[in-house]
Amino acid sequence: GALPAGGDHLGGTLGQAPSSLEGWYPQRLRVELLHRNGIDADPLGADFDYAAAFATVDLEELARDVDALLTTSVDWWPADYGNYGPQMIRMAWHAAGTYRIADGRGGAGTAMQRFAPISSWWDNGNTDKSRRLLQPIKRKYGNALSWADLMVFTGTRALELMGLPTYGFGGGRLDAWEPDEGTWWGPEVWDPHHVDSYDDMVSRDERWHGQNGDADYDLQSPLAASHQALIYVNPEGPAANGDPMGSARDIRITFSRMAMNDEETVALIAGGHAFGKSHGQVAADRIGPPPEIAPIEAMGLGWHNPQGAGNGRDTMTNGIEGSWTQDPTRWDNSYLENLFGHEWEQTRSPAGALQWTPADPDAPRTPDAHVPGETHALMMMTSDIALKVDPAYRAVCERFLADFDLFTTAFSKAWYKLTHRDMGPKHRYLGPQATISDDLLWQDPLPDPVGAPLTEADVDRLRQAVRDTGTPASDLVATAYAAASTYRDSDKRGGANGGRVALAPQKDWSVNRRTVPVVEALRGVQADFGRNGGHVSLADLVVLGGCVGVEDGARAAGVEVRVPFTPGRVDATQEQTDVEMFEWLRPVADGFRNHVSERFADFAPGVAPEAVFLDRANLMTLTAPEWTVLTGGLRVLGANWDGSSTGVLTDRVGALTTDFFVNLTDTDLVWVKTDDTESTFTGTVESTGEHRWTASRADLVFGSNAQLRSIVDVYAGSDGQERFVHDFVAAWDKVMMLDRYDVKGHRRYG
Ligand code: HEM
Repeated sequence: GALPAGGDHLGGTLGQAPSSLEGWYPQRLRVELLHRNGIDADPLGADFDYAAAFATVDLEELARDVDALLTTSVDWWPADYGNYGPQMIRMAWHAAGTYRIADGRGGAGTAMQRFAPISSWWDNGNTDKSRRLLQPIKRKYGNALSWADLMVFTGTRALELMGLPTYGFGGGRLDAWEPDEGTWWGPEVWDPHHVDSYDDMVSRDERWHGQNGDADYDLQSPLAASHQALIYVNPEGPAANGDPMGSARDIRITFSRMAMNDEETVALIAGGHAFGKSHGQVAADRIGPPPEIAPIEAMGLGWHNPQGAGNGRDTMTNGIEGSWTQDPTRWDNSYLENLFGHEWEQTRSPAGALQWTPADPDAPRTPDAHVPGETHALMMMTSDIALKVDPAYRAVCERFLADFDLFTTAFSKAWYKLTHRDMGPKHRYLGPQATISDDLLWQDPLPDPVGAPLTEADVDRLRQAVRDTGTPASDLVATAYAAASTYRDSDKRGGANGGRVALAPQKDWSVNRRTVPVVEALRGVQADFGRNGGHVSLADLVVLGGCVGVEDGARAAGVEVRVPFTPGRVDATQEQTDVEMFEWLRPVADGFRNHVSERFADFAPGVAPEAVFLDRANLMTLTAPEWTVLTGGLRVLGANWDGSSTGVLTDRVGALTTDFFVNLTDTDLVWVKTDDTESTFTGTVESTGEHRWTASRADLVFGSNAQLRSIVDVYAGSDGQERFVHDFVAAWDKVMMLDRYDVKGHRRYG
């Protein structure tokens, strides 16, 4: 195959020995990941209110500006067919298509395509030009229009300009300001200077289980791309083997990891490839390095092409050459008509890539993108032929072929989902073009609030009513934590709002078993309150219960606190809850509750539970001090998922003391592993042999890791108790409020 020379690579590109902590100690826990992309990296500062700024943008004016830009070719990067629309659609699709359901990471939401490694993946070839073309519009609108919103808007507007009625556009994406190092993109080792074939570069076997075609063939979780730098699949088929059926298997796995079903997958691929062309004029090994490692004078652009002008007729992007349709700048059904109307045979592009051409010499032809009057044979990729040979995809294609309106609607809706999937609740959508009226199941809809908002007096009454149920504080805390902790900032899903801890699938997760009787008791409180004419959601009661538990715990430790409580949560229905998609939120390990599921070994072979614990803290946007204080507090409050005493390093369970920290770092103790899996340890008093405690890796990590241990020292100190309670309450409230976009608006921090 002709694919990725000049590709990016994880370190060592210039033959340098890695001179970093990771280079020296590859297994170290990267606690510093918790402090990335923070206020220090953000030139707009903590007070910048994107919603207010975005409200000043007139989206119709923006659309006119984008239309003019798309249809005005510039010399440094001439537009194919006089229209940049197709390359902008591809840019937006590649921005969104990194999304993955397993951990909610990727997606268009923070404009990560600007930064390595994504900026420099082979599959993002020449998207640097697309973004650079947008610079005048970015300048004009300034901070009122983030790169992330501009990229999605432009792709969407390009579809409209070429005839697709789109489903809408919601703004509200906040740009990141530095590369995201917290996402595990999976193993892939390339040596860009010694590449003969695709197989030389890609450690395919490390990303996949089994062989393509086997029943157990699957991709390592949480990955979603067949190859890191190809975002989804190799267009030439698995390992460039030209096998359409194998390609279909890879497409199904990768697109379902993107949360797309078969119909959405076909709509997206067939819809996207109604536009534009593929570029494969020059052998890949002649193309220069990608943006991240390009020469400084290239000013952030990569993939220098030495042939001719290096653009226009000579463009080299992926390696395949040609267009799918006769009119690549118009929305019509000719992609499917061509796919099904002809027999296709394998050929090679000028760059040497495997592709398909109609066997019939009389098949329609497609115009040259730059030279008037010249025409070329139509083209399909192995991944396009896949839609015809796979029986389930074929059935969808046949429905779309017979009903263009159905196809049009399916593509519009799938595009909307693709580009908004990672934005979380609709409260985050900005602007008049967001289609707010419809509830789409993938948005995890929340109903409107019922009844009058709770007053202070109501909340006081409810606090007492919760106490009167006699539910132990540790159960209240465990339940509120279980509800709130499904939140992940990656795609803003989960959290306590919606009351979904009481719905399938969450109510049935074994890790949530302590929540079941608590939810029952709180339903009683809810019903009583209702009989007295009030309305309170179960979701609010779950969180309020946690507040009560924490307050009682603090009092038992001699500190009076009132835990903040912000009412206004609502209860979703089961019908508003996509059970399959919520199943992805089930923790594979949750160190906060000292939980490691039986799926853990399969999920992350070779990964330590504490690394997954760190990842959980990261997905909840916790800092290292917050991570530490929350864990120490949850332990002494007795919030383990199974009620066990593992890591509960106190004799006063239920009191919010600093005992966890004091005892964890007690120098009289020796810690010894109890089995070969190194998952459980006993702490014994060295001099007497007295067995004191049992702990897990999620406990010991706070004593063994130097950065965490420094924080532990703060709380274990003789002056640590007040600070501990105060910090615990603040971190607790932060977790309870993570998903409250209905009240916290569009600020990034706080
Ligand atoms: C172009 C592969 C899905 C939209 C391309 C190119 C490749 C490719 C190799 C040529 C890039 C170049 O050399 O310029 C694939 C594969 C897919 C897929 C393997 C999935 C199996 C999609 C989807 C969309 C899309 C879902 C949008 C919804 C486009 C567009 C172009 C394009 C608009 C033309 C870009 C231009 O004219 O510059 N695709 N694609 N593709 N793709 Fe896809």
